[in-house]
Amino acid sequence: MNVVELETSARAGRVNRRVEASVNRVVRGYDAARLRIGLGGRKAPYDDLRYEFLGGPHDGLRRKHYDKSMRLLWKAEDKAPWLSFRDNTPAERQLQTMATRSLTKEERAARTRLSLPEYKALLDREYTPRQKQAIVNILAPIGHGEAYAWLTSAELLGTVRSTGARAALTMQVLEEAKHFVVLRELLQSFDVQMPRQSVWEYMLLERVLKAKGLEKFFGMNVLVEGIALSFFGLMSELPGLEVLRQFHLDESRHTALPGNYLSEFPLSAWQSHNPVACMRRLNMVLPALALLPHLEEDMAVLGLDAFDFGGSVVRKVSTLAERNGFMLPIPQKQLLALLDQLFNGYCSLSRPNHVRKRFTQQDTTVGEEARAVEREIFLGAAAG
Ligand SMILES: [Fe+2]
Ligand SMILES: [Fe+2]
Repeated sequence: MNVVELETSARAGRVNRRVEASVNRVVRGYDAARLRIGLGGRKAPYDDLRYEFLGGPHDGLRRKHYDKSMRLLWKAEDKAPWLSFRDNTPAERQLQTMATRSLTKEERAARTRLSLPEYKALLDREYTPRQKQAIVNILAPIGHGEAYAWLTSAELLGTVRSTGARAALTMQVLEEAKHFVVLRELLQSFDVQMPRQSVWEYMLLERVLKAKGLEKFFGMNVLVEGIALSFFGLMSELPGLEVLRQFHLDESRHTALPGNYLSEFPLSAWQSHNPVACMRRLNMVLPALALLPHLEEDMAVLGLDAFDFGGSVVRKVSTLAERNGFMLPIPQKQLLALLDQLFNGYCSLSRPNHVRKRFTQQDTTVGEEARAVEREIFLGAAAG
């Protein structure tokens, strides 16, 4: 590079470097001492000598979550063009125009980018007002849950160790923000009453947000995201709700995150098994169970059995919980048997001609693609 160097004083340079080195020794030494005795010290869990967050690089986590999230990053403008989002890049917009141009007339008609009035007309064609209200009532807890997922993942970002894990959590924060704002507009476009959080959901999500440290991984990524994943898997084949497939894909990565993180930074036996932690986890699960009778009527309007759904969710969530070392007060096998009894007891009392069945053996996720995504999480190794 051809430049004219400016003249500086060599002596001033030497003095400046010496002053900086001395102040550095004092400031860093003071902070290190305060840290050792638990009185503060450096706040950032960051190691500038190694150019790394404390915990090391852990690039595997970065590849499985940050890179993969970037690859699968979706835009609301593309997937739900009738909403107000304009998040496509100029290149994406141009690509779309070119792709549409190369289609035949029929293909183009099938890929019409709906405007909001057209989307609302589609909903009115496909659903009765009661069915629209039922869809919103079922998805509202997830809508409110996305707000808590956004808050909780932002707090977890400050808890996890390593550069890779922080990159992974950063993508989750971004995705939860997108889920919240997109789902909110999607549900509002149904033009029906948007319900508040039920008390069960309020208790569940407050307990999750207040959970300490890595227990948030159980409350949010295992329990709440397991429920959300199952709702998206149940509803994404309904007309006008195809965009939920994108949510389903994102949530599948989020449910895989604790497994990938804890395989590198495992919980201790005490953290996994101590009775207080086990009870606290159960305390998060109980309000989730109370959500089932709460949603039963609305699900029935759409021909869906809330307890088939509940059984399917409980099996998936308890599988993930045990695999990640988040033990509950009773082992999975007994828990599922107990819940089958409980669900059958409730249904015998409340449903005429109820025939006993194993609710916890149901799978309510619809569509081969969504099922394949879930197989990767629940049967195979964590998603990669
Ligand atoms: Fe989400
Ligand atoms: Fe999520």
